[in-house]
Amino acid sequence: MAAFITSLLMLFLVHTSNALSKKYYADTCPDVEATVTEAVKEAMANDKTVPAALLRMHFHDCFIRGCDGSVLIDSKGNNTAEKDGSPNISLHAFYVIDNAKKAVEAICPGVVSCADILALAARDAVALSGGPSWEVPKGRKDGRISKASDTSQLPAPTFNFSQLKQSFSQRGLSTRDLAALSGGHTLGFAHCSSFQNRIHSFDASNDIDPSLNPSFAARIRKACPENNKVRSAGSTMDSTTTVFDNNYYKLLVSGMSLFSSDEALLTNAKTKELVSTFATSQEEFYKAFVKSIIRMSSLNGGDEVRLDCRVVN
Ligand code: HEM
Ligand SMILES: *[C@@H]1O[C@H](CO)[C@@H](O)[C@H](O)[C@H]1NC(C)=O
Ligand SMILES: *[C@@H]1O[C@H](CO)[C@@H](O)[C@H](O)[C@H]1NC(C)=O
Ligand SMILES: *[C@@H]1O[C@H](CO)[C@@H](O)[C@H](O)[C@H]1NC(C)=O
Repeated sequence: MAAFITSLLMLFLVHTSNALSKKYYADTCPDVEATVTEAVKEAMANDKTVPAALLRMHFHDCFIRGCDGSVLIDSKGNNTAEKDGSPNISLHAFYVIDNAKKAVEAICPGVVSCADILALAARDAVALSGGPSWEVPKGRKDGRISKASDTSQLPAPTFNFSQLKQSFSQRGLSTRDLAALSGGHTLGFAHCSSFQNRIHSFDASNDIDPSLNPSFAARIRKACPENNKVRSAGSTMDSTTTVFDNNYYKLLVSGMSLFSSDEALLTNAKTKELVSTFATSQEEFYKAFVKSIIRMSSLNGGDEVRLDCRVVN
């Protein structure tokens, strides 16, 4: 009986020690949020691509080994890190997290994890781009493992609905989360390689994906000709690329999405319905996005507070 109670207690302790809380740093680092926000603001003032980069960085972090800052670790010796895996194509702005971490270490050394700093920075990126804001549950710990080979676990832009659904459900996320979080594609830029499957040799009978709006297809094909050699070429994710709005959904229903994975949301009755709701109501999109990003960003991770976000302790 005593052993049973002890193990129950242990379970409870393990469970609660991993639970995130909005007030996690209330006593140990009350100024952490303002400090991170300041670093994000400063970077955004010099580089408009920063918010998109931070949001995508957080997504990649959470989808590989949970939100544990693994995406921030640099390759070292014989270990090639996540950020140097092939789907890293647009990951950048790591310096923003470095700057935020430095500022946070200066006020509360060794207290705040890199994973929490990234989760806060992603929230700030959305809010400072005109999107919704939310309270971020905190208390993530940083992981010690980051492998380029893990990036094969990320969903690919060529995925169909069932592949996307599986990728999300493996992480406890629903098709509603999939529909809402795909709205992150309201920010940023995509390279030709991410959508060339839709505009060159699409399938046996079509060179161009027939679900694309023809004039939109012509425009992105012009930017991305076959055998395009300009590696930096591509397209903005939507026509209001620095504003976190519901334009992505409006364009999606009009055949103006970039990825097959975006288009795939229209091939399932439930996500199609959500896309149309989000296209008509920015408020509904914001509400759903906030719920879903909190779910995604609560996927648990590591066991230490890294001192330098690029290097394990
Ligand atoms: C549903 C599965 C998803 C797939 C297949 C996917 C795929 C991609 C791809 C291929 C790119 C372009 C990379 C490039 O060509 O440079 C991209 C960009 C981006 N993704 Fe996703 N993504 C997904 C979900 C998400 C989620 C959940 C978020 C965040 C909530 C997100 C946020 C972004 C942002 C902000 C960019 C632009 C990055 C930049 O401009 O630096 N994506 N995504
Ligand atoms: C990689 O390096 C570590 C330590 O630097 C070493 O223990 C390990 O054996 C090496 N692995 C390979 C595959 O070379
Ligand atoms: C992405 O990975 C490639 C290796 O696959 C590497 O050469 C490149 O530097 C990486 N890019 C970034 C931004 O880390
Ligand atoms: C989705 O893609 C997978 C892998 O290519 C394939 O096996 C499956 O049949 C596809 N599903 C649909 C509904 O097209």
